[in-house]
Amino acid sequence: MKPAMTTDDSSIAIAANTDAKVMPALRRPQLDDAKAIHGLIRACPPLDVNSLYVYLLLAHHHPDTCVVAQAPGGELQGFVSAYVPPATPDVLFVWQVAVHESARGLGLGGAMLRSLFERPSLSGVRFIETTVGPDNAASRGMFSSLARRLKTQINESALFETHHFGEQAHEEERLLRLGPLALPG
Ligand SMILES: CC(C)(COP(=O)(O)OP(=O)(O)OC[C@H]1O[C@@H](n2cnc3c(N)ncnc32)[C@H](O)[C@@H]1OP(=O)(O)O)[C@@H](O)C(=O)NCCC(=O)NCCS
Repeated sequence: MKPAMTTDDSSIAIAANTDAKVMPALRRPQLDDAKAIHGLIRACPPLDVNSLYVYLLLAHHHPDTCVVAQAPGGELQGFVSAYVPPATPDVLFVWQVAVHESARGLGLGGAMLRSLFERPSLSGVRFIETTVGPDNAASRGMFSSLARRLKTQINESALFETHHFGEQAHEEERLLRLGPLALPG
């Protein structure tokens, strides 16, 4: 299955390739997706499982910076949450990326991320930021791949340290910053 992308304008973008697997449709999340997003996150350790209310807020306030991937049968196979921090309008902060185990390794995570940059509302983004735990090879691999495809570099620095998580046993989360991204042609 290869991601055959179209711009994400909330429309359905389904493509099949020679594997005869069907790429899920990438679109903005809606309120009715929150329950399924919550279930997907629960199925995707090591992601922190936020309350269902958080996913309602993301669908309500940030649909333009979030993506769901919906299989033709209706099930949600992927989700990206992201937002533009108010103080840095040229940054897209990617919060969570989840791909159901059954759909991993097929390019869906990368395709969801890249679909965000095809949205006209995000044409002003020049940097992508995210945080990553020290041992999350999949996340690191996905963002390295994204940087390669966008022909840009990654800088890594400390951000959230273990003591910031208080009593919660949580590994540090280091900041990855990709960019600058090329201006749209
Ligand atoms: C991380 C995750 C979203 C990747 O989804 P995916 O659809 O399998 O990723 P893709 O197929 O798009 O792969 C994108 C790149 O990441 C690399 N990658 C994917 N999984 C990897 C792994 N386990 N180890 C190393 N690299 C990996 C791929 O090789 C690919 O690189 P390439 O383009 O150079 O071939 C998925 O593994 C997941 O949901 N993990 C659990 C939750 C999580 O850790 N999320 C990330 C933190 S926000």
